[in-house]
Amino acid sequence: METNEILKAIKIKKDVVKLCKKAGKIILDAYGKINFDQKTSSRDLVTQYDKKVQEYLESNLSKKYPEINFLAEESDDLGKVDIYHGEFFVIDPIDGTSNFIHNLKHSAISVGYVKDGEVVLGVVYNPYTKDFYSAIKGQGAYLNAENISVNNLSVKNGLVGYGTACYYDDLRQQAKTIHNLVTDNVNDLRRPGTASLDLCYLASGKFCAFYECRLAPWDYCAGMLIIAEAGGKITDFDGKPLSLEKKCPVIAGNPIAYKELFDIISAVK
Ligand code: IPD
Repeated sequence: METNEILKAIKIKKDVVKLCKKAGKIILDAYGKINFDQKTSSRDLVTQYDKKVQEYLESNLSKKYPEINFLAEESDDLGKVDIYHGEFFVIDPIDGTSNFIHNLKHSAISVGYVKDGEVVLGVVYNPYTKDFYSAIKGQGAYLNAENISVNNLSVKNGLVGYGTACYYDDLRQQAKTIHNLVTDNVNDLRRPGTASLDLCYLASGKFCAFYECRLAPWDYCAGMLIIAEAGGKITDFDGKPLSLEKKCPVIAGNPIAYKELFDIISAVK
């Protein structure tokens, strides 16, 4: 990246971090006041706070960066915008909405900044632990101020994070088949329920790999850069780069575990 692009990304990161801290307070103060509605199914839920946090981030970011557009979970404009041209913030205001509703205290705000289809900045904030995971393209990955990298464990020795893709009835059988096969071939699995944090757990060496049969760009936009900058690999189930235009199946891992998990999942597809 050119110096002026790096400087712009650094400035945006500072602003995003400030706004996430304030938006995180909205999430923490919500306890006991949460109402929710169904979106596509009884498992796919939205609360008034998903909308509030999205509005807060969008209104403040657009004041500072009027030239940057938005692709955000609660606006449902996936596939309707040309994310491969121009500048976009890709936002999941509360990733882990079910965790939030059930007070599991494990949800995150995920913000990616994309220029001409390339993810330039990723920030994932866990308001409960106050942890910021972040990366700027070419500048490494961080947990707060600490440089992070993937571990080098094989799936037989490390923990594999996964998601159940539970909103999608068309994936139920595939998800169960993959889950059974993966269970038999890895050390152990974890399903914490917030995909953006799962990806950051991989980037910071907690998980050796991760998979889910379908995620949306707002779930993985920030995390995919953080993983790449931490030395990991993330693709769809065919080994292709993740799309920012549509939902995708996701496999990620350190280079060793990625290959092992890819081979296991390829046996099912
Ligand atoms: C969900 C979470 C969950 C994953 C789902 C996502 P949301 O995001 O990241 O871990 O399994 O596939 O949709 O709906 O809570 O923002």
